[in-house]
Amino acid sequence: MNTEIVKIEIDNDSVSASALGEKGAEIFTDEDKAIIRHAGEIIKNGGLVAFPTETVYGLGGDALNPESSKKIYAAKGRPSDNPLIVHIAEFDAVRKITSEVPETAVKLANAFWPGPLTMILPKSDAVPKETTGGLDTVAVRFPSDLVAQEFIRAAGGYVAAPSANISGRPSPTEAKYVIQDMDGRIDMIIDGGENEIGLESTIVDLTINPPQVLRPGFITNEMLSDVLEEKVETDRAIIEADSGIAPRAPGMKYRHYAPKGTLTIIEGKRDDVVAEINRRLAQDKAEGFRTGVIASDETIGEYCADVLKSSGKAGDQFAAAHRLYSILRSFDDENAERMYSESFALDGFGAAIMNRLLKAAGHQIIKI
Ligand code: TXA
Ligand code: MG
Repeated sequence: MNTEIVKIEIDNDSVSASALGEKGAEIFTDEDKAIIRHAGEIIKNGGLVAFPTETVYGLGGDALNPESSKKIYAAKGRPSDNPLIVHIAEFDAVRKITSEVPETAVKLANAFWPGPLTMILPKSDAVPKETTGGLDTVAVRFPSDLVAQEFIRAAGGYVAAPSANISGRPSPTEAKYVIQDMDGRIDMIIDGGENEIGLESTIVDLTINPPQVLRPGFITNEMLSDVLEEKVETDRAIIEADSGIAPRAPGMKYRHYAPKGTLTIIEGKRDDVVAEINRRLAQDKAEGFRTGVIASDETIGEYCADVLKSSGKAGDQFAAAHRLYSILRSFDDENAERMYSESFALDGFGAAIMNRLLKAAGHQIIKI
């Protein structure tokens, strides 16, 4: 299949939320609008289009068409029991695809939509089981990225989209990574530049009481708890990955984001971590392995690895999240075989960073 690759570059940051609505259309040039109309037609005709969002790139198809969902699974090489998120571009769209909209959903939508929050709700008959991996619930997200919104509208309002990577690889945070994984497999790729956040949305299950987080993200448990005025916690199975409890977000049971080599997280006091990682690097080098390290700006210069990757200033969670997936991909591109990462604090957005890093490391963490 020939994949059309097109570029739409607008500055999402400079456009305030109030510029949406009537003025929304003026953000795009006539050429941009023609591209988005064309992308929408592809979706309506049952095709697939990769598009930017504020979290990661999505691989979109018509959420209400079972054949489109089957094509998404095939393009990703993803097991079809792993449900897709339905992306919408106005709050009222949620009513068509759900059988009930609880008060909690309205409160969270008012606080965080459009934005990086996905809500699990009971599904209506409008959503085929192919889209929800056979479940009676549906995941719904209203992204804040303006290209995403315009595209969803052009596509008819309901776009099923997993992250636009081959199953098992890190989610793509730039179009070049989408091209690496999806060129030749889908109809079109919309290049909208680097994604703002770089980690997938927070998923909260509102079909249970109290609501639970199934995947941590930029919207933290504290932020959800504040709005709902009750304590929202993360599903235990997500935290205790080796406990054998089945996670309720089916995707969480698959090993994700895994680099080709092995990654180990080393946690402890600054100087101890530097010494331990360097000791291991020396040993790996002696055995002939190519090595890599993820560390903060402050310590990166102290490591003797072949591939050195900075996660940003120590404590800058936004930078670490933003860079993580491209670092993991670059380890593969640079053929690193033994990699080590410093650990990150678990507060705020840190829970999401550690969740993804632990998965990439196959849960190998050494506390010293
Ligand atoms: O930020 C994001 O959410 C990105 C962008 C493209 O929007 N999308 C994304 O989709 O990360 P995906 O398919 O890579 O991850 C969706 C996760 C999977 O772990 C899946 O199992 C879970 O959401 N999920 C989807 N529907 C669900 C449902 N009804 N119940 C429980 N988990 C669900
Ligand atoms: Mg994914």
